[in-house]
Amino acid sequence: MPKQSIADIDVAGKRVLMRVDFNVPLDESGTVTDDRRVRMALPSIKSVIDRGGRLILMSHLGRPKSGEDNSKFSLKPAADCLSRLLGQPVSFASDTVGDDASKKVGELADGGVVVLENLRFNDGEKQGDADFAAQLAEFGDAYCNDAFGTCHRKDASMVAVPEAMQGKPRVVGFLVQKEIQYLAEAIASPKRPFVAILGGAKVSDKIKVIRNLLTICDQVLIGGAMAYTFSLAQGGKVGGSLVEEDKVELAKELIDAGGSKLILPTDTHCGDAFSSDCNKQVVRAGEIPDGFEGLDIGPETARHYSELVAAAGTVVWNGPMGVFEMPPFDAGTRAVAQSIADSHAVSIIGGGDSAAAIAQLGFADQVSHVSTGGGASLAMLEGQSFAAVDLLDDA
Ligand code: 3PG
Ligand code: MG
Repeated sequence: MPKQSIADIDVAGKRVLMRVDFNVPLDESGTVTDDRRVRMALPSIKSVIDRGGRLILMSHLGRPKSGEDNSKFSLKPAADCLSRLLGQPVSFASDTVGDDASKKVGELADGGVVVLENLRFNDGEKQGDADFAAQLAEFGDAYCNDAFGTCHRKDASMVAVPEAMQGKPRVVGFLVQKEIQYLAEAIASPKRPFVAILGGAKVSDKIKVIRNLLTICDQVLIGGAMAYTFSLAQGGKVGGSLVEEDKVELAKELIDAGGSKLILPTDTHCGDAFSSDCNKQVVRAGEIPDGFEGLDIGPETARHYSELVAAAGTVVWNGPMGVFEMPPFDAGTRAVAQSIADSHAVSIIGGGDSAAAIAQLGFADQVSHVSTGGGASLAMLEGQSFAAVDLLDDA
């Protein structure tokens, strides 16, 4: 069901409470090392301030723990980053629903922006607490969800806050709109062949995605460490590779269910230690010697996967093929990324590691869409719907 967007509502002189996903990586000194999530929220942010709205931004950052020193999870660096990108001052509240937040929200002028401190500094956020939500809801005349990366969560700011704001406009932002459009359309009416490439360490993270995509895609290509669990399921030898022993039965089921659609690596690049300068060899999949561990798909697999991508009409990629941050075990991920960049297919890159890989390799602008959501894009590929979006106003 299409939703009302921020463009559809009148914001001049109004306080717009916008949930964004400013859960960005920070370095030791507290500097934002990848500002993509902030940049991707700019269209919605500008839409409000350019029309004279008063913007209150709220987000979480990381997973702070109650009772510990959580200063490294402050949203201040993200607020500074936003100020730089906007070229205008951005006010920052040192709490989320306390005195400083109330004061800074009260001081907002038309076209002004305040960022509230990390929502997860309050236990009520993860608990979906109604009192906490009611305090946040007080700040806004309208609610906007532009936090695609968090849309699979039911945290207070995502669900209880818009619930508490019933009767006021509750809309999606441009980023949420765009992400859902790409991912939903790819799944609903893909140009075929539709090829999914799934990597990463654990089968357990990707079971539901593999199951769902096997019913939609023409081919599902498997890489990353989860390939070794599949190898075990086929009776292969995996040496010291990372595997999930307790997921072997499940891997067998997926192999049976997938038939010829589920494509596993035929060779493996392995090493005798988890380091760039270990002793290396390329072996047949399922023949990893003792003392060695699989660290990447082999060159034959990389070639085969690249050919399948070249022939595809739609490609969805989530999860690296190997240890891409540790050359030469980046070769498989690099080959897949290159073939996606070269192809004319509609190409969608899941967030998290695959988004980082595509950016690091310099291909980000040669694909159709790079998602800002890791878990959220996986949830969409699993066919889940989002309560945080469903409850917003229909268009
Ligand atoms: C993410 O980066 O996955 C989102 O910001 C959600 O964060 P979470 O996984 O800690 O809920
Ligand atoms: Mg996550």
